[in-house]
Amino acid sequence: MTLRTQHLLGIEQLHPDEIRSLLDLADQYAEHNRRGEWHRDVLAGLTQINMFFESSTRTQASFELAGKRLGADVMSMAMSQSSLNKGETLIDTALTLNAMRPDLLVVRHGQSGAVDLLAQKVNCAVLNAGDGRHEHPTQALLDALTIRRAKGRLHRLNVAICGDIAHSRVARSNILLLGKMENRVRLIGPPTLMPTGIADFGVEVYDDMAKGLKDVDVVMMLRLQKERMDGGFIPSEREYFHRYGLDAAKLAHAKPDAIVMHPGPMNRGVEIDGTLADDINRSVIQTQVEMGVAVRMAAMDLLARNLRAARAPKGVTV
Ligand code: NCD
Repeated sequence: MTLRTQHLLGIEQLHPDEIRSLLDLADQYAEHNRRGEWHRDVLAGLTQINMFFESSTRTQASFELAGKRLGADVMSMAMSQSSLNKGETLIDTALTLNAMRPDLLVVRHGQSGAVDLLAQKVNCAVLNAGDGRHEHPTQALLDALTIRRAKGRLHRLNVAICGDIAHSRVARSNILLLGKMENRVRLIGPPTLMPTGIADFGVEVYDDMAKGLKDVDVVMMLRLQKERMDGGFIPSEREYFHRYGLDAAKLAHAKPDAIVMHPGPMNRGVEIDGTLADDINRSVIQTQVEMGVAVRMAAMDLLARNLRAARAPKGVTV
């Protein structure tokens, strides 16, 4: 079980075997978590710093818990109160933190590419917790683990990703991961929320939920990312729900055992009907959150193995 890289910046850099290894390890951590068994030796002696330049609830909590369960010293920086407000650049902040010798740096930033840039300036392991519209690799991995556990496999599935694709790093990372594992991905949403040239990613594009959802195994809903919209992308939320919001009637077009997913936070009554989101027979939204902790434990465990191997004196195996 290994990752070839020092950092986890995106799904784009991962080989299918690395994805499988990471999910296998995360599966074990999910079971340990259910039994309340912690392995505090795994990251013992290592320092994890979380830097969230954009707000986050579940991702930040999940990384924090994952680090603590594996015994790391975890510090979460309140970036809105940091020296960035005094005009310090991202790179200066990174260099300052780097001088404190962290081992794992978890970063979320509003600009696509910011986390990659930062990774070039530090000598610890960097984990991308979401950069702009670019990537959110641990989200795609936790989605993959949730799908694999629910469906018993992660290949040859029909997966529909619905809604605001254009602004979504979750969609991008999922399209890459599901494609690498040989699934068929359909994107459903209004043309105004569909990125140009997206069909080059090997996906099928629909603007009609009934057609797009026909016989799919997995329905992944996305949040309308209003904070990234600078104009009128949708006529009204009411109209949007009518055409693209997932409810029982639209879900009836999917396979009878199709699962419903959402990365959170949800706009109930906008992209998803609240009752359906809470229906434990169809919705795996809470399982996604649970798998999030396990996936982040696995990712940090594997990156820490690389760190230790790189730091070990030559000729010593760790
Ligand atoms: C997503 C994100 O921040 O990219 N949320 C998350 O990480 N759970 C999706 C979103 O904000 O809509």
